[in-house]
Amino acid sequence: MAQRETWTSRIGFIFAAVGSAVGLGNIWSFPFQTAANGGAAFLVVYLAAVFLIGFPTMMVEFVIGRRGEQNPVASFGKIGYNNWSFTGGLGLFSSLITLSFYSVVGGWVLSYIVGSATGAYFADAGAYFGSVASGPTAIGGHLVFMLLTIGIVASGVTDGIERATKVMIPGVLVLLVALAGWATTLDGATEGYSYYLSPDFGVIASNFGSIVPPAMGQAFFTLSLGFSVMIAYSSYLGRDDSLPADGGAIVVVNTLIALLAGFVVFPILFATGGAEGAGGGPGTAFVALAGAFGSLPAGGIIGFVFFAILLFAALSSSISLLEVPVSYVSENHGYKRSTTAVAMGGLIALIGVPATFGTSWLGFYNDLVFKLLLPISVLLLAVFVGWVADREAIDELGRGSSVGDSFTSAWLWWVRLVVPVAVIVTLYLGVKALSSGLASGAYF
Ligand code: PHE
Repeated sequence: MAQRETWTSRIGFIFAAVGSAVGLGNIWSFPFQTAANGGAAFLVVYLAAVFLIGFPTMMVEFVIGRRGEQNPVASFGKIGYNNWSFTGGLGLFSSLITLSFYSVVGGWVLSYIVGSATGAYFADAGAYFGSVASGPTAIGGHLVFMLLTIGIVASGVTDGIERATKVMIPGVLVLLVALAGWATTLDGATEGYSYYLSPDFGVIASNFGSIVPPAMGQAFFTLSLGFSVMIAYSSYLGRDDSLPADGGAIVVVNTLIALLAGFVVFPILFATGGAEGAGGGPGTAFVALAGAFGSLPAGGIIGFVFFAILLFAALSSSISLLEVPVSYVSENHGYKRSTTAVAMGGLIALIGVPATFGTSWLGFYNDLVFKLLLPISVLLLAVFVGWVADREAIDELGRGSSVGDSFTSAWLWWVRLVVPVAVIVTLYLGVKALSSGLASGAYF
C-alpha cells in the first residue's frame, strides 16, 4: 500500500484545520446569528460554548485521529474499538449532507461575486437573491463550487489541501482586516459596534433557552466538530506536537476571524438601516448585505472583496468535508484518491440538488445536521473518549505536550461529565424544534 501522506509541517496542519474551521459559519452565519439572537447577549453565550465545550471536544477528535492514524472510520478499530467505528461513520454521513447544501450556498457566493462585478444586485437586492438562490443558476453555481472542491481534494493532502489553505487563509485574514478598517469610516459604525459588543445580561437570562441551542450548534459547526473532519485531519499529523497548543491556536484564530467578520458586517448593516430583519434565515444575510453594498459608495468593489473572502473561506472548509468520505473510501477500499474524489463529489452534488429547489430543503438539511446529527455525534465521541478509550486518550493527549497530569485529568472529567450534559440539553431542545418544524410543515 502507498505510504500514507502527512502534513509537511506543524504550521501546515494548523492552516488546514483553521481553513476547515473558518468558513461560511464565521463570516456569514455568525454575524447574522448574533443579529437574530440579541447581539452581544448571543456573543457571550457563543464564546462560552466555543471555549468551554468546543475546545475540549476538539481535543477529543484530535486524540482519536492521531492515535488511530487512519480515516475516521478505521481509526476506531485501530485504537482497539472496532465496534465504535459507526461513530466515525455518523460523522462521515453528516459531512456528506452538510457539504451537499454548503456547496449550494457556495454557489450563491459565486453568483454574488459575479453580481458585484456587473452591478446586477444593486437596484433590487431581494430580486437578485430570488434569481440566483434556486433554479438553474443555483444548480450551476453548486456544480462549479463542487468542481473546485473536488479539484483541490483530488490533488492530495499536501499538494491540494495544505497548499490551498496556506494561500486562502492569509488572504481571508488580510482582506477582512482591510474591510474592517474601511467599515470604521461608515456612519453606522458606532451604533453597530455597540449593538454587537454591549451585552445585556437581562436578555441572556430571559432568553436562555432560545439562545443556548443556536450558540452551541454554531460553536460545534464553526470548529468543524462532530463531522469526523478533525479526526481525519489529525490523522495526518504523523508527529508528536502538542495537541492542546495546536487546538488552542486553531480555536483562537477561528474566533478572531468570526469576531472580525462582525466588525465588518455590523457597521455595514447599521449604516444602511440596522440589524432588524437581518436575522431571518439563510437568504436574509445575502439580501441585507447586498442591499447595503448597492447603496454604499464603491459598494461594488467592497462587495466583490467581501464575497471573494467568503468564497475562500467556504472552499477551505468544503475541502475538509469532502476529505472525510474520500479518505474512508480510498483507504478502506483501495480506490485512487482522485477517482474517489470525483465519485464522492458527484454523489454529494446530487444529494445537494434538492437544496437548489428553494430554501426550505436547504433549511431542512441544515436543521437535520445542526439539531440532530451533530449533537448525537459529539455525544458519542465524548462518551467514547471519556468512558471507553479513556486510558488511550489520556496517554495521547499527553504526548508531545507539556500540559501535565492535572490538565489531562481535568480535561477527561470535563469530557466525561460537562460536555455530555451540555450536549444532551442542546439535543433535547434541538429535536423538539426539529419535530415541531416537521409537524407544522415548516420544511415541506
Ligand atoms: N467550520 C465551517 C464553517 O464555519 C463549516 C464546517 C463544518 C466545515 C463542519 C467542516 C466541517 O463554515
